[in-house]
Amino acid sequence: MAFSPRVFSGIQPSGDLHLGNYLGAIRRFVPLQDTHETIYCVVDMHAITVWQEPNDLRRATREVAAAFIAAGVDPKRSIVFNQSQVMQHAELAWVFNCVARIGWMNRMTQFKDKAGKNSENVSLGLLAYPSLMAADILLYKATAVPVGDDQKQHLELTRDIAAKFNNDYAASIAEQGLDPDFFPITEPLIAGPATRIMSLRDGTKKMSKSDPSDQSRISLLDDADAISKKIKKATTDPAELPVEVEDLKGRPEADNLVGIYAALSDKTKAEVLAEFGGQGWGKFKPALADLAVAQLAPMSGEMRRLIEDTTTIDGILRDGGERAAAIAEKTMNEVRRIVGFIR
Ligand code: TYM
Repeated sequence: MAFSPRVFSGIQPSGDLHLGNYLGAIRRFVPLQDTHETIYCVVDMHAITVWQEPNDLRRATREVAAAFIAAGVDPKRSIVFNQSQVMQHAELAWVFNCVARIGWMNRMTQFKDKAGKNSENVSLGLLAYPSLMAADILLYKATAVPVGDDQKQHLELTRDIAAKFNNDYAASIAEQGLDPDFFPITEPLIAGPATRIMSLRDGTKKMSKSDPSDQSRISLLDDADAISKKIKKATTDPAELPVEVEDLKGRPEADNLVGIYAALSDKTKAEVLAEFGGQGWGKFKPALADLAVAQLAPMSGEMRRLIEDTTTIDGILRDGGERAAAIAEKTMNEVRRIVGFIR
């Protein structure tokens, strides 16, 4: 059986959304609405794998939903919801906890980074995190997942879990008269010039919600003035911009800013260098600042307006939750039969 093209992606409500989240994920959600059935989720259950103040979690959940909509995700064409409304995510994640191996989880670089030296004392949820992520995707039998580069390993694990489930339960899947490829082997969509946006202070570090320096990232709630100042102050090397993309190698800050320009203008890095190669930062940074302000400032204004309108946002999430649950329950019903649970 061919799976119909369905996209799923999720964003954690665990701090300020930034330009990396926008260019690596949210912006790319919009055109997929024309070609796929699209499901976009605020993954609040993932967020609590590290401590979240309840009121902050509520605010951040609405902020992510507002960002989706301000960026152009249409909550009528796409399903937009928060994960905890659809209990089947937790249910399938439990089944996957029993399919996946602890060794697989221990190998996850993101777990190692987040746990650091403290791995005995982080939540059990943080270790099992990729199992819940696989459940998010496979509950909807999603065929494609647009994400940034840092999620690549988690998506490989999702494929491993799908394959092991299909294999472990092959006899039962056949007995139930279901397709032997019960779960699809999902395709990661990690493409374009902005799969890994770096810190504005240090081109070797990823732009992240947890960086203590506010100057390291452009927040999606920054106003025009803040966006412009942060770009103009971004760390760079002294050389002028190269003419060839090859020559961005070994120049992480230059590579990053050219990548940001390319992503914001829907161009390739080569096209950006065709325009700016040979010029100095004095020309390029103001051009990038103007472009970023033109693209991001209207969105941050719309986000701020939407966040205040909690009735509308919560209504969108509730409606999306109902539509998601209808699909999720169908899959979960099949999974219960496959596994041997009586209902
Ligand atoms: P999260 O919330 O950390 O990040 C959300 C999305 O933003 C991308 N991203 C970046 N892209 C480019 N440059 C950066 N510096 C950058 N930082 C973040 C991430 O790759 C991601 O696409 N585990 C996921 C959330 C998740 C999920 C899912 C994603 C849960 N279930 C199912 C897809 C499908 C996460 O923590 O993303």
